[in-house]
Amino acid sequence: MTNTWSPDSWRAKTALQMPTYPDGAALDVVEGRLRTYPPLVFAGEARKLKRVLADAASGKAFLLQGGDCAESFAEFHPDNIRDTFRVLLQMAVVLTYGAACPVVKVGRMAGQFAKPRSDDNETIDGVTLPSYRGDMVNGMDFTLEERIPAPDRLERGYNQAAATLNLLRAFAQGGYADLHKVHQWNLGFVADSESGERYRDLANRLDETLAFMAACGVTSKTTPQIRETDFFTSHEALLLNYEQAMTRVDSTSGDWYDTSAHMLWIGDRTRQLDGAHIEFLRGVANPVGVKIGPTMQTDELIKLIDLLNPEDEAGRLTLIVRMGADKVENELPPLIRAVQREGRTVVWACDPMHANTIKSSNGFKTRPVDTILEEVRGFFAVHKAEGTHAGGVHFEMTGQNVTECVGGDQAITEADLGSRYHTHCDPRLNAKQSLELAFLIAETLKEDRTDKSARAASGA
Ligand code: PEP
Ligand code: CO
Repeated sequence: MTNTWSPDSWRAKTALQMPTYPDGAALDVVEGRLRTYPPLVFAGEARKLKRVLADAASGKAFLLQGGDCAESFAEFHPDNIRDTFRVLLQMAVVLTYGAACPVVKVGRMAGQFAKPRSDDNETIDGVTLPSYRGDMVNGMDFTLEERIPAPDRLERGYNQAAATLNLLRAFAQGGYADLHKVHQWNLGFVADSESGERYRDLANRLDETLAFMAACGVTSKTTPQIRETDFFTSHEALLLNYEQAMTRVDSTSGDWYDTSAHMLWIGDRTRQLDGAHIEFLRGVANPVGVKIGPTMQTDELIKLIDLLNPEDEAGRLTLIVRMGADKVENELPPLIRAVQREGRTVVWACDPMHANTIKSSNGFKTRPVDTILEEVRGFFAVHKAEGTHAGGVHFEMTGQNVTECVGGDQAITEADLGSRYHTHCDPRLNAKQSLELAFLIAETLKEDRTDKSARAASGA
């Protein structure tokens, strides 16, 4: 591989999962316009995220990344943005308490519009059409007109991302994210929850802590950290022509940044060492993630780290592990050992969604909440045994009361799936299921902490 990188050097490599546009001239026009549009995020914000992710790599912070599998044009509504943001904040408060460290909040929001697919085509009743690849590429309706990739969708995605980010910034900094408010929502959740008792203890202790802090004068009025929060955006960097158009030189550092989001990740299907996606992301200075499925080999992982983080910069690289509940305990330890042996710094995050998808007997793609929790537990257990840091979690979730994943306190059954199954791609946790998981993970984090301090106290 040549070492000269430029925003378009990926074009000389094989780019999997990218659409073929029938009208290349129209695509050029759209890319040209995108290159002149304002950046969605600033380099300084991406650097800030990198700094807090460096803390997650060393166990001093915890990453919470979550949002839709695929954002859609049809569900673009302020209430949807608000509700997902709210649940992420609620989860973050619970996790902060469990981990006793800052939780880095990163939405799969404001740009998560493009999907890799297992098959290029879809056949229904003998009719074969191109697969749906996310609203930024084509339409979900099963007609030829909708399924043909349309370049103007890139621009519509940019505009929706800009408006979404604008609202997220207002929510994060304008008083909506006040810790006391978020805590009140959590108390509401515990009161309404079918097995609320299970979460009451943790919620009560948080209540006491906030009251104690207020008594000491630490309130929303006195302390910006109580009334504001940092919220970052991320998406899969799949459509490299869009990402290239959004990539600009930062005048402060002279480095290239992809200004479409703070963090970009490469999916499990497009992480080939000699492929276009790695080539593109190796040259931008944003924090980047890579999804790691069960086919990842140890030597391949080290080569991938060499390409994406040659200087071993802390916070630059997050490995988002998605092995499956039944595989994580066997497949993850060799990868962790290789990274340790080579002395590399990464954030280890757990995506317990993508390898736990099953088909229900009535034909829905679903994920059992129990299996999701099992993979998270397995991931934590492996890190505990290896003496490394479980640095974060990555969920597909929504603030809406959908019925896409089975189980949880609401006991959603396969028969319930049809009632509110709205996802544009993979099944998401609903608001209640997401919070339940946050409480259960917080318990695990707290136990880990208690174990660690007991070991430290006994000098072991
Ligand atoms: C996703 O995050 O929606 C996705 C497609 O994940 P993966 O690349 O891990 O399959
Ligand atoms: Co998905």
